[in-house]
Amino acid sequence: MIVILLLVLISLVVTGLVVLGGQENLGPLASVTTFKTGEVAGEIHKIAAWGLVSAIAIHLLGVFVETRIFRHPVLTAMITGKKVTAELPSDAPGGTHTVRGGVLFLTLGVVLLGVGMKLADKPPSGWRVAQVPVAYESECGDCHHAYHPSLRTKQAWRVLMNGLPDHYGEDASLDAETAKSINVYLNGNPAETFDTEAAQWVGRIDTASLRITDTPFWKMRHQDIGPSVFRQKAVGSKVNCNGCHKDAASGRFDDAKIHLPSGDPK
Ligand code: HEC
Ligand code: HEC
Repeated sequence: MIVILLLVLISLVVTGLVVLGGQENLGPLASVTTFKTGEVAGEIHKIAAWGLVSAIAIHLLGVFVETRIFRHPVLTAMITGKKVTAELPSDAPGGTHTVRGGVLFLTLGVVLLGVGMKLADKPPSGWRVAQVPVAYESECGDCHHAYHPSLRTKQAWRVLMNGLPDHYGEDASLDAETAKSINVYLNGNPAETFDTEAAQWVGRIDTASLRITDTPFWKMRHQDIGPSVFRQKAVGSKVNCNGCHKDAASGRFDDAKIHLPSGDPK
């Protein structure tokens, strides 16, 4: 049981770090994991979690049977490393394996910590800082928040930029100079160049309307949010991602950075 528990716990920690690194581009493995490996690791993580729950249940049942039915003092044995029974005298040698095992695990732990800290210094493989031109912030952040370029493909941005005179019923035309600098930014940083959850599941999925909010993943993730939440003063509409995602401008969309607004709808 000790071996099973240790193996399950190790697999939980490892797969958990792969999920964090692959899907969120965070943690020590962010530089060496892709989004897809993160997804696979997530499935194994779930199985391991149920494995742990089952192992704990079986373990507790075992302790109950040992102490209540066989009347073996297993609880003291867990602490002292010695199991005193009628067959085994209390002065029987024991405990050396515990010390050796402990030293082995401690060393392994220190080595892994060192490797983890070295890896953590490297930049994440799927995400980087994209330098936002001032024109993009001011022109494309005027009516709604300025979207991270990883939320649409190169092709979608091209079509959208060519249709600015009739942009969802608004005239969002730009002078040639400004349009050029924005095009350079969007062409250089489209969804194809990021390996984040938002880029994989939202950005790379094309929609006829070119809308980010028309992608199946976006709809699925936001279907339980009532319309009145989107109408809160701090948000205004579903197109203002930054009303709820405090890191929307960076393109990360980290779970930990989601804050649903509280207050009255406007
Ligand atoms: C004059 C106001 C205005 C400007 C300027 C503007 N937009 Fe928009 N944009 C809108 C409106 C209105 C919508 C539709 C919003 C809605 O449905 O609530 C929209 C929607 C969008 C969407 C789709 C949002 C969704 O639902 O997924 C994208 C992408 C977009 N704009 C990109 C841009 C870019 C890039 C620029 C800069 C070149 C820009 N917009 C400038 C008004 C504007
Ligand atoms: C009213 C608040 C709100 C707005 C506005 C909003 N979101 Fe979300 N978003 C959420 C919540 C809450 C979740 C988590 C849902 C869940 O746990 O299933 C979420 C989840 C997501 C996720 C998945 C994140 C993850 O790690 O699981 C992505 C990607 C995302 N949103 C992108 C967007 C984009 C892009 C926009 C703007 C076009 C947007 N959101 C606008 C509230 C919002």
